[in-house]
Amino acid sequence: MCGIVGFVGTEQAAPILLDGLERLEYRGYDSAGIAVLSEKNGLQVRKSKGRLKVLKALVDGGRTMDGVLGVGHTRWATHGEPNDINSHPHLSQDSHIAVVHNGIIENYMEIKEFLLSQGVEFRSETDTEVVAQLLAYYYRLSGDLMGSVYRVLHRIEGAYALGILCSDLPDAFIAARKDAPLLLGYGEGCNFIASDVTAVIKHTRDVSYMEDGEVAVVRADGIQVYNAMGQPVEKTHSFIDWDVSAAEKGGYEHFMFKEIMEQPEAVRKTISPRIKEGRICFEELKMTPEEIREIGKIFIVACGSSYHVGMVGKYNLERLLRRPVDIMLASEFRYADPLVDEDTLVIVISQSGETLDSMAALREARKLGARILSIVNVVGSSIARESDDVLYTWAGPEIAVATTKAYSTQLIVLDMLGMYFAEVLGTIDRGNYDAIVSELQALPYKMEEVLENKETIQYLASRYFNHDSVFYIGRNLDFALGLESSLKLKEISYVHSEAYASGELKHGTISLIEDGTLVVALGTYVPLFDKAMSNIVEVKARGADIVALTTDSKKEEMRKTVENVLTVPDTHIILEPSLGIIPMQLFAYYVALQRGCDIDKPRNLAKSVTVE
Ligand code: M6R
Repeated sequence: MCGIVGFVGTEQAAPILLDGLERLEYRGYDSAGIAVLSEKNGLQVRKSKGRLKVLKALVDGGRTMDGVLGVGHTRWATHGEPNDINSHPHLSQDSHIAVVHNGIIENYMEIKEFLLSQGVEFRSETDTEVVAQLLAYYYRLSGDLMGSVYRVLHRIEGAYALGILCSDLPDAFIAARKDAPLLLGYGEGCNFIASDVTAVIKHTRDVSYMEDGEVAVVRADGIQVYNAMGQPVEKTHSFIDWDVSAAEKGGYEHFMFKEIMEQPEAVRKTISPRIKEGRICFEELKMTPEEIREIGKIFIVACGSSYHVGMVGKYNLERLLRRPVDIMLASEFRYADPLVDEDTLVIVISQSGETLDSMAALREARKLGARILSIVNVVGSSIARESDDVLYTWAGPEIAVATTKAYSTQLIVLDMLGMYFAEVLGTIDRGNYDAIVSELQALPYKMEEVLENKETIQYLASRYFNHDSVFYIGRNLDFALGLESSLKLKEISYVHSEAYASGELKHGTISLIEDGTLVVALGTYVPLFDKAMSNIVEVKARGADIVALTTDSKKEEMRKTVENVLTVPDTHIILEPSLGIIPMQLFAYYVALQRGCDIDKPRNLAKSVTVE
């Protein structure tokens, strides 16, 4: 939610900032802006409503702004509609201070009222402007810029990653962080800040992650970081080892399509290092077998697609471990007074590792004494750093707002974790264990097979893309699969869709089925195939158009009832959602393509949701 980038060096800053913002645009894309400081022209700000390309045209790719020091921002609006004025950077009244911000200043109204009473005039409706105005106010009173920054940080409440330029500080910018991601990038003769590593990877792989309460002064020849008390801090550096091309489209029309196609490889990378001599091992797991045996209860918390991974996990973990697994949306968890204590293992699932609701749930669970294990894609992210154990998914950078390869790799890690625990607990027999391990190793190849059939899915999408409403139905793991399939369709194609446990239809929803209603019937969960068929027959009898998904072994049976049948190879039952999701992602993609939607940047959404 909002992307921040900052640069200081010897080259012209504006083109570098725009390039960084392009890579962060997935975080928010309703407006963008940059501020650059130069000796000749002082503090210059250019910003504009709309996509980054509008800003780029306004500043001729950055060429019209001189200066080797600046900050930039791409916005997902929280306070104030997306327009030129509400775009970041925000200036103080005297135009000496410019601020970019990701997060929310919760007590901004109270601060704004105070500043208004002091005669300060505001230009925007944003919460961020109070940071620029309050800083200028304190600075005017004291003449001490760093002291004023600390005063502001003590006064504001909420979440922030901040980039601050001041015309009295011609060779540096200031950065600060609390509950919103911000990293420092160390270049040669230049340095950076960014919300995410994709914005700086072209220039440096040497980064460190700012901690809550830290403040950094970023100069071309070095970065000095201070803790919340103003004492200097030595940062631990991390090396980013993935390739720049991983965050580029590489000839594909959309990141989403590229990421769908990358799934076999991503899953392979997630699985391979964790299977040794036929056994699943998590070398990174600190939890001992004794501690695993002591777990009284497992609680999964997550949002969106990560929550849907948790839904599959609930079925699979309960099956493998024969003990209760609870699941709750992270946004509900913290206010639900959840039944969590020292004996509970809370599994937090998050691609970004920065989702505020998930982060808040994690902290609530910690307060209640639970042990936290997270499944995260972004290395070094906040959720990863605050967990007792973190299992990375190794999906590489995921740029499209709609998650695909991160979902698939999360699913695999959770399944493998279930297997690992089951072996420790003795709740799985050797034959079943070996069968699942062997199917895990075959999974990337089977995923490749599914991807080869994309033309059939494209054809079905061209047939049904103009339906206004779609129902996904399925039982057990197919119900969990339906939840994710439905979210994929609605978020990128704006087609209304719902996912139902097939057995629930008769309790109400079936009243919505009429001639021509599109029902996507999921029948990959073979143990309940016959039950699934009965429900398909019921909706067919009421006039529904049906697209069915089943396994190769069941396709002939399905074809007796349904004309449009998609298939996936058979695998072990617990792994079937990993194959089933691929045709569903492709279906959503092709429907959105037919409808002319902005697939990688769907309306009103952002990749990393760092507001509540
Ligand atoms: O980064 P996270 O996994 O924590 O994100 C959670 C959701 O915001 C995310 O899965 C969202 O639902 C995606 N847009 C789904 O494609």
